Amino acid sequence: MTQDTATFDPRRISLRPDELDGRVIAVTGPTAGLGRALALECARRGAEVILIGRSVKKLEAVHAEIDALVRHDGRPALPASIAPLDLERGVAGDYDAIATAVEQRWGRLDGLVHNAAILGQPSPIESQDVPTWVKVMHVNVTAPFALTQVLLPALRASPDASVLGVSSSVGRRGRAYWGAYSVSKGALENLLQVLADELGKTTVRVNSLNPGRARTGMRRQAYPAEDIGTLPLPESLMAPFVALLGPQSRGVSGRAFDAQ
Ligand SMILES: NC(=O)c1ccc[n+]([C@@H]2O[C@H](COP(=O)([O-])OP(=O)(O)OC[C@H]3O[C@@H](n4cnc5c(N)ncnc54)[C@H](OP(=O)(O)O)[C@@H]3O)[C@@H](O)[C@H]2O)c1
Repeated sequence: MTQDTATFDPRRISLRPDELDGRVIAVTGPTAGLGRALALECARRGAEVILIGRSVKKLEAVHAEIDALVRHDGRPALPASIAPLDLERGVAGDYDAIATAVEQRWGRLDGLVHNAAILGQPSPIESQDVPTWVKVMHVNVTAPFALTQVLLPALRASPDASVLGVSSSVGRRGRAYWGAYSVSKGALENLLQVLADELGKTTVRVNSLNPGRARTGMRRQAYPAEDIGTLPLPESLMAPFVALLGPQSRGVSGRAFDAQ
């Protein structure tokens, strides 16, 4: 079914069990929280998932979980692929190795989700630690930029590709004490807008999605005194992610969405 792109809302899309069938989708940070839930859900919806993360041991654990999955349409999930990359320490050759592997194996990439991020040290600007600031900006902005850049030829080779950046409400409007994290998410939003503008007439769409509050390690780090048990599980927030990666969001680009 064709959607009206102006009124498209990923929260209101009804998904088919095999919504992502035949798609090759790369997810950064698939070893915990929202990224892990997304990698599993993409596999359940029929995608072949590329797991991009820094710990091979943790990546292998998610790979094994996907191996054991049954898709929503009752078929066995396709095996995932592991692409080791530390977004803090990775060098050009590490990025190029992923791009080369994708080119050689599939010749295209249908989805790229910039999910991995770090919180840094929430504090007022006047006491932000400069090395931590640099690290947060690197992991949350520069690494997604560099990964997108090397994977653009593969994304352009797809008939229907989606780049999705996982944002935050403090990236939509800066908020006191969120420091480098808030600034990095604002910069990520801007990166995605620039990219969407540049890719306007191509088959590659680019959007951001703010998941809202979710029961993850990062949320616990940000709000240690909160009763995290009251927050939604990452698994319950996956439908809008899938809608933005699947065929129903074709033509929707340069937009900033909320999952809740
Ligand atoms: N949770 C929320 O309430 C919330 C709200 C708004 C936005 N978000 C956004 O949602 C996304 C996912 O957050 P989350 O809450 O699921 O976080 P999380 O549970 O802390 O998971 C973060 C993921 O990023 C990976 N990662 C961190 N540093 C990395 C590095 N240097 N290289 C490669 N991978 C790295 C982690 O890998 P390891 O397992 O190896 O550490 C992990 O897989 C983030 O973009 C976050 O900003 C979350």
